Amino acid sequence: MNLFRNLFTSSIGRKFLMAVTGLVLVGFVTGHLVGNLQIFLPPDQINGYAHFLQGLGPLLWGIRLFLLACVAIHIWAAVVLTLESRAARGPESYGVKKWLRASVASRYMRMSGVVVLAFILYHLAHFTIGIPGDESYKSALPSVVLENDVREFGIPLAAAGTEVHDVYSMIFLGFANPIVSLFYIVAVGLLTVHLWHGTDSLFQTLGWRNARWADGLRKVVAIYCILYFLGNLAIPGAILTGLEEPAAGTTAAAELIAQR
Ligand code: HEM
Repeated sequence: MNLFRNLFTSSIGRKFLMAVTGLVLVGFVTGHLVGNLQIFLPPDQINGYAHFLQGLGPLLWGIRLFLLACVAIHIWAAVVLTLESRAARGPESYGVKKWLRASVASRYMRMSGVVVLAFILYHLAHFTIGIPGDESYKSALPSVVLENDVREFGIPLAAAGTEVHDVYSMIFLGFANPIVSLFYIVAVGLLTVHLWHGTDSLFQTLGWRNARWADGLRKVVAIYCILYFLGNLAIPGAILTGLEEPAAGTTAAAELIAQR
């Protein structure tokens, strides 16, 4: 109990909470990207996958609440740690070079963190809740019937003949708008910078960055971040440039984009 209270009341505890919640969120964004890359497969795949996730019901809500709690703790710890370090520094240390360097990084973390939060709110309105009047929102699109059984790693997700939301068309129509796509690319770019610095300091906080591993870990983080950005760039990038054309036939995307 004391240990639990210390996590919230001591600086090192809050740093630890920030690192652990950050790690959970890195797990989420990575899984989400892998799921989203199914947009490059036949439409049944991503539609069946989204249908499976929606069908998790209470478990899905449990995961959502857990992620929301992680975001809240992450932000709370960031704000408290910033205020503490400001108070500890006092006004006289303003000229110190080392402080300046640390401060640029943490200021950048705060700025990118705020933009990422704004992006998540927009993203939820865009895809999960739905913007009224937006034809790309899934409830505004006719539902589709799966032509094939959908499996992932051998696990059955949805059976042929199931009526599902047309998430495939929702993504295509959403990203066919250059302003929306550009906003996603900028936000995901800032998220990547945030992840890059955050993951580096996370290893430091968790004590995993000893002299032997430091260089290797930094490289792994850099490669991960570059792949993460490219993966996210690929989706709006391919749709916007027409490199990936919507599949004709079962979904609404091809027809609606052609009408534009
Ligand atoms: C190209 C990039 C992305 C695409 C194509 C994409 C696509 C989607 C789609 C289609 C949904 C709605 C699923 C549904 O309701 O059926 C969704 C939900 C969501 N996305 Fe993304 N997303 C992208 C990037 C991101 C990023 C970078 C983040 C986090 C920073 C994020 C966070 C979320 C969250 C929190 C939800 C709500 C999940 C839920 O309903 O429980 N997404 N995304």
